[in-house]
Amino acid sequence: MRGIILAGGNGTRLLPLSSVGSKQLAPVYDKPMIYYPLSMLMLAGISDVLIISRPIDLPQFRRLFGDGSRLGMSIDYAVQEEPRGIADAFRIGATHIRGEHNALILGDNLFHGANLPSLLRRSAERLNGCVLFGHQVSDPERFGIAEVDERGRLVGIEEKPARPRSNLAIPGLYLFDGEVVDIAKRLTPSARGELEITDVLKAYLDEGRADLVWLGRGVTWLDTGTHESLLEAGLFVRDVQRRQGTRLGCVEEIAMHMGFISPDECYRMGTEMRSSPYGRYLMTCAHSYDRLPASARVPEDWP
Ligand code: TTP
Repeated sequence: MRGIILAGGNGTRLLPLSSVGSKQLAPVYDKPMIYYPLSMLMLAGISDVLIISRPIDLPQFRRLFGDGSRLGMSIDYAVQEEPRGIADAFRIGATHIRGEHNALILGDNLFHGANLPSLLRRSAERLNGCVLFGHQVSDPERFGIAEVDERGRLVGIEEKPARPRSNLAIPGLYLFDGEVVDIAKRLTPSARGELEITDVLKAYLDEGRADLVWLGRGVTWLDTGTHESLLEAGLFVRDVQRRQGTRLGCVEEIAMHMGFISPDECYRMGTEMRSSPYGRYLMTCAHSYDRLPASARVPEDWP
């Protein structure tokens, strides 16, 4: 399976912060925002990733991850000239997708929860069309909403409805088969001039090939698009990390656990950042890796 992180947009709700750089590079506590969606893809077992962003921001992402080889991955880059909508990712990413199964995640979406990686991998294995996720929220009118029947099956999708038929929001993480590129190419822009992801999901739903997977209460979904939600996400990460002594979205550590890189390589990257707690954490993780029981090495249930 191949991955795409859509990290463009103008981030107007974050002005003036977003006027000095990409929103998805803004700090969420101790690391750039994009580490979190990238780590989600990695935990799903994806090592081929395309990052899409604005022309002005792309060099910064490239500087951060290079070709991905330091993480044992392949990371490529593509430009979105204007924010033409989330489904534009499939037109831009057509050659990256190569007709294969793929996962799209928005660069400002942050997930945390035990079992989520295994849920993603299981969903990917039985993918037949597309998989979208449903997450319960208290303010459904702000989101794309999954409408379900009495048995919990997906029957409709509504974009920011005034009177929502459910409180199941659809987060910015989706799995698709290779046909998504053709579907996206056939879309016409919405009234706001965008290629809407909901139109792609509806096309699969009309064919009976859209699968809704519920994210249970154990999963936290944070979007970081406003000053308030960005701060909340940072405090959430700090609190979890402080209490558990582990780090969320630590891409080097995840690369080691996924077997993309060796503990030595992880340790070396830690030494390059040894003056920060993050670097020292990497060194400790890499150092103790061999002493972990085998069951703790495979991140089956990693948040
Ligand atoms: P939004 O939050 O809808 O848009 P935005 O990031 O430009 O922010 P604002 O509303 O404050 O102006 O986008 C959600 C995510 O999708 C975000 O990570 C940016 C990304 N995105 C693109 O990369 N390209 C696009 O064309 C759109 C619509 C969104």
